[in-house]
Amino acid sequence: MRPKGSEGMPSQMEPWYRNAVIYSLSVETFMDGNGDGIGDFSGLRDRLDYLESLGVDALWLAPTYPTPNRDDGYDITDYYGIDERLGSSGDFAEFLFEADGRGMRVLLDLVVNHTSDRHPWFFSAQSSEESDYRDWYVWSRKRPRAARSGVVFPGVQGSTWSYDQKARSWYFHRFYDFEPDLNMENPRVRDEIHRVLSYWLRLGVAGFRVDAVPFIIEKPRPEGGAAELHFEYLRELREVVQWRRGDAILLGEANVVPRDDEHYFADGDGLHLMFNFWVNQHLFASLATGDARPLASALAATRKIPARAQWAYFLRNHDELDLGRLQPREREAVFGRFAPEATMQLYGRGIRRRLAPMLGDQRRLEFAYSLLFSLPGAAVLRYGEEIGMGDNLRLRERDAIRTPMQWTNGRNGGFSTSEQLIRPAIGKGPYGFDAINVEEQLRRPDSLLRWMIELIRIRKECPEIGAGEWHILPTRSRQVLAVLYTLRDSAVLCLHNFDETPREITVDLKMTSSGERLRSLLDQQASHGPAGRHRLRLEPLGYEWYRVG
Ligand code: GLC
Ligand code: CA
Repeated sequence: MRPKGSEGMPSQMEPWYRNAVIYSLSVETFMDGNGDGIGDFSGLRDRLDYLESLGVDALWLAPTYPTPNRDDGYDITDYYGIDERLGSSGDFAEFLFEADGRGMRVLLDLVVNHTSDRHPWFFSAQSSEESDYRDWYVWSRKRPRAARSGVVFPGVQGSTWSYDQKARSWYFHRFYDFEPDLNMENPRVRDEIHRVLSYWLRLGVAGFRVDAVPFIIEKPRPEGGAAELHFEYLRELREVVQWRRGDAILLGEANVVPRDDEHYFADGDGLHLMFNFWVNQHLFASLATGDARPLASALAATRKIPARAQWAYFLRNHDELDLGRLQPREREAVFGRFAPEATMQLYGRGIRRRLAPMLGDQRRLEFAYSLLFSLPGAAVLRYGEEIGMGDNLRLRERDAIRTPMQWTNGRNGGFSTSEQLIRPAIGKGPYGFDAINVEEQLRRPDSLLRWMIELIRIRKECPEIGAGEWHILPTRSRQVLAVLYTLRDSAVLCLHNFDETPREITVDLKMTSSGERLRSLLDQQASHGPAGRHRLRLEPLGYEWYRVG
């Protein structure tokens, strides 16, 4: 028999990442500890209590390696170091130690598709064909026919092959020209990557967010055409990670179509988690149109994953909101609703705005985050979202959404005491730190931040959401999404009304043994439905979380 009070809670251990809440941040813009205008590990360490009070399980740090910083740290010159602007290796170790003490896991960004063009390996590779490092990169003696195709940042990046004077050859770069791709075909490159994983795992990190996965495993072709993909390489990575640390994870960035998901999860031997870009884009289509069906179909299309795998859901990340996978009509609807001006759009496919200015008010933000936390997987929250931070469209490309965290209404929003900041803090207007900051929202009971802390707490009471089975229930309303999550003999029901008008729906829970009673997890309400049929009312953009039984 189970002890009293444990009813509804699973008794078996689940891998930690299946229900994780992951907080993503950039050390550079989070908190400046030494007053030089750049965020650092000592500043971050001082904010761990705050992150603990939010209730997050893990932190994903944007790249923290030595870098010329031309792509916000994604251009790396040393995989075994900490960029000195962010602190020393000692500061990093201290931070890990303190995070560990609070039960928070730390994930690093693993950026191995490319290095910086100032990495010593690339210098050596350029210098001579005899260099041991020549074959660490991808070269072509002839001008590649495909040089203009496949660019990731259209409008900013002109080609994927550039001529290198020193090397007298063309080199491949999927991203910017200062980010030459590593040659994954070369076993020595793969060995080196394994050592990088090994090194950081040994220091105590709990895994990696793997940057640009489809491009890591592709074999570029100078002559053009579809690239060959080496999925077996993901199994290799997984094995390396698992041997070093059993509970460590790989969280992959792969914006791919649903039919390719299985290759990345590789029967549960590939990536542990992937960001669900498909759902992300269709979720915005649903938000823009008030019609829950695009999201419901996207969930259904990405439903089947191996038992050991998991989705990571998110609303916004540090990049543009990429809408490239939507149908043109859907994409136009999202642009029209959330990014009507050209300056809000980027690369012809995305939106470079934070969520709060897109949605416009706290009620909509609460709806969107309630939805996010109810999606059947792990949830990833980006720094500043919990207080509804805004963007600065005067900054270039994706920097618009990478402004300093707003802690107080004091100088620089409490981020730094320096005159000169890595990036200006948002000082004025409705999203300035005067109006939007952590300190103020912690004090105010009806703030977004207090609401978010409470919702994360409630999410922790519902392991069914990430670890159970889930079903979309028919509601006869295309504006309402109803999802039932079951885990052994317990069940949770979440409802979201995408409409700006109230909706009444009927749900039928006769398939669950205890479906006659629903108890709200958000307030005191309950519903009694004879034979498991419940007639429920939802406010405009209303949401409800119920425990069944
Ligand atoms: C990924 C990152 C992005 C970066 C790019 C190149 O897409 O999310 O920020 O610019 O890879 O590393
Ligand atoms: Ca600093």
